[in-house]
Amino acid sequence: MGLSVTRTGNTFVAEIGGVDLAQPLDEATVEAIRQAWWDNSILVFRGQNLTQEQHVAFSGHFGELQGHTVKDWLLPTHPEILVLSNRGRGGVKPLENGGAYWHSDITYQAVPPMGSILYGLTVPPEGGDTLYADMHAAYEALDEETKALIADRVAIHNYKHRYLLMAEGGRRPDPTPEQLAEWQDVEHPVVLVHPESGRKCLFVNEGFTVSIKGLEKEESDALLQRLCAHSVKPQFVYAHKWRPGDIVMWDNRSTMHCATPYDAEKYERTMHRTTIKGITGQRAAAA
Ligand code: OGA
Ligand code: MN
Repeated sequence: MGLSVTRTGNTFVAEIGGVDLAQPLDEATVEAIRQAWWDNSILVFRGQNLTQEQHVAFSGHFGELQGHTVKDWLLPTHPEILVLSNRGRGGVKPLENGGAYWHSDITYQAVPPMGSILYGLTVPPEGGDTLYADMHAAYEALDEETKALIADRVAIHNYKHRYLLMAEGGRRPDPTPEQLAEWQDVEHPVVLVHPESGRKCLFVNEGFTVSIKGLEKEESDALLQRLCAHSVKPQFVYAHKWRPGDIVMWDNRSTMHCATPYDAEKYERTMHRTTIKGITGQRAAAA
């Protein structure tokens, strides 16, 4: 089948070679990619050239796709595709500083996505890297006292807080009443048992985790800040330097990511993302 899986210098990233994602894939190839994904959390494919249909078709091998609560960023022709572009390509509103804070995607929903597949169409020659953090490794490296402290804790996640912060900075339109009504608190364990691997990972993020249930605000803020700062230490982080035609797919439960700055006046940066719905664990239990 010709597919190669090569670990990069990081513990949780592999580059996949020998596969053209524009072509229909046989089940053995899909299964090999899926296995590599669970083994690594992050897969990088270089030199791909996909139509929107092909991007959607490839993504569909891994589950059902979902859109986004902000419809302005979804491609009218393919609402499964979210456009992150400072130039607002494809009839979509420009998205400035999309994801420029440490987060996992859409953890403010009751069942967050299992993963996202990001395709770099136009990327700046410098800057605009995406950083990824290995939340398995971050959890495992915690001291025993902290592990005990967070063992049975539950965190509250909400999109409102993040969106309003961005809106205050003039980077987002004011939210609609419908959006505000939709953005309710949801709860997730602070330590998630990964449904595929059974490994534990830290599951809080700077973007959308607003508090840890049952703690006073000060203590909750301090603990969240400490856990996030710990998770993004250099030994847990991979920096993806984009080339046009790159595809990065990440496991959204066991990683966080963060966009880095670039000269947005000078350069276009246009990325297409598909997002794969999460599962509640039944499939993992049945497997
Ligand atoms: C995303 C995201 C960061 C980037 O696609 O979910 O956060 O670097 N992107 O574009
Ligand atoms: Mn993101």
